[in-house]
Amino acid sequence: MTAPVLEAEGLRKSWGGVAAVDGVSLSVHAGEMLALIGPNGAGKSTCFNMLNGQIRPEAGRVILLGRDVTGQAPRTVWRLGVGRTFQITATFGSMTVLDNVRMALLSHHRRLFSLWRPAALQYSAEALAALARVGLQEQADRPCAVLAYGDLKRLELAIALANEPRLLLMDEPTAGMAPAERAGLMALTARIAKQAGIAVLFTEHDMDVVFGHADRILVLDRGKLIAGGTPEAVRADARVREVYLGGGVH
Ligand SMILES: Nc1ncnc2c1ncn2[C@@H]1O[C@H](COP(=O)(O)OP(=O)(O)OP(=O)(O)O)[C@@H](O)[C@H]1O
Ligand SMILES: [Mg+2]
Repeated sequence: MTAPVLEAEGLRKSWGGVAAVDGVSLSVHAGEMLALIGPNGAGKSTCFNMLNGQIRPEAGRVILLGRDVTGQAPRTVWRLGVGRTFQITATFGSMTVLDNVRMALLSHHRRLFSLWRPAALQYSAEALAALARVGLQEQADRPCAVLAYGDLKRLELAIALANEPRLLLMDEPTAGMAPAERAGLMALTARIAKQAGIAVLFTEHDMDVVFGHADRILVLDRGKLIAGGTPEAVRADARVREVYLGGGVH
């Protein structure tokens, strides 16, 4: 098997003396969809924040493409190829869908985006191709503010892809979406991940999405990994069933 895109070893972080993440180790490979699941407060977001540099771990290491990036700033980690889906701020709501992607491309290529020269059509073809990849080409000229929520999520994905990431971190990417749309977004993400060899680590509360789209699942409970493996193995795990008692692991 090829070397993992991301490897984390023994990550730990506490808040007010209580361990939120306690000795988490994981690895994600190119083209792999890895789900990190667990009840509310299990430590999933804290893990993500350590992986992308937002929080410095108290212990442990983060290795990206063979390089130790532990404690590096988010921008550095992003430059090295870690994308993250994020909420699009109101500032960009008045810009068109196409311009949002162009701005991401300009940023990736370290060019300045000139709002004063909107006629400068840098990266328009690339931006249109990126929108086609997520099925948004028809919406290219609309302002973001008028997009349906599901389309905004696809735009977030296109923006994250503009950075040509080797790893995508998606913390609850389908939150707030209608159930039917969730499956669509994750199927699209999985397809792109396989095509482009991108490693994807995602958290998700919707078990249909998790079991439908993850290649592998890790289960976090009170800061510790309690199970991991294929969807079938995790579904059959007694400890997982206990944690989710009455929850969604059917
Ligand atoms: N900035 C913070 N300051 C203090 N405590 C925090 C902070 N961030 C997280 N915590 C605590 O750490 C624990 C883990 O939180 P975290 O947000 O990582 O969980 P999660 O698995 O992402 O939960 P959810 O499913 O609700 O998003 C919780 O007890 C939470 O209250
Ligand atoms: Mg969270």
